[in-house]
Amino acid sequence: MKVAVYPGSFDPITMGHMDIISRSSKFFEKIIVAIGHNHNKAKGMFPVEKRLEMIKLATKNMDNVEVHIYDGLLIDFAEKVGANIIIKGVRNSKDFEYEQNMALINNSLKEGVETFLLVADPKYCFISSSMIRELMYFKKDVTEYVPNEIMHMLKT
Ligand code: COA
Repeated sequence: MKVAVYPGSFDPITMGHMDIISRSSKFFEKIIVAIGHNHNKAKGMFPVEKRLEMIKLATKNMDNVEVHIYDGLLIDFAEKVGANIIIKGVRNSKDFEYEQNMALINNSLKEGVETFLLVADPKYCFISSSMIRELMYFKKDVTEYVPNEIMHMLKT
């Protein structure tokens, strides 16, 4: 079975992430959306358990999508769930440079694991989770940028 992992912080999940999940879900038998703890990043706005609930709600109509939380290296998690494909979205050249390094590191840690980069839909290229957090901080409407299903969960 072709299983792919789509990792990220998802703090919170955005329409940009949803675009990557829905497009890639057509090409694999199973997509595991994996919420990782990035030790180089601050703790984040939403607890990981809440992010998990948000993504489950947002993807509830996608039969081949699962949501997990992982700690430690992505490559170890991928091995644990039997995935040899990592999916990442690329919005711009900055993302590409970063993802190229990540793909090379992961491939050198475990041969045979491949990273598939999906070019983000231009209408979501400017969206990021931190942008949404900032808009929320200033009490601005973020309806356009996050899945409808999670709007009621955005209050911290
Ligand atoms: N649409 C919208 N936003 C997107 C996006 C898309 N298609 N693609 C990326 N982003 C944004 C995210 O919203 C996030 O925005 P923010 O910084 O404003 O919060 C930003 O891009 C970075 O994405 P993030 O989800 O934080 O992923 P990441 O690439 O930084 O990876 C982990 C985070 C936890 C998945 C990753 O660091 C990891 O797996 N760590 C475990 C340790 C490991 O294995 N390291 C590699 C080997 S050393």
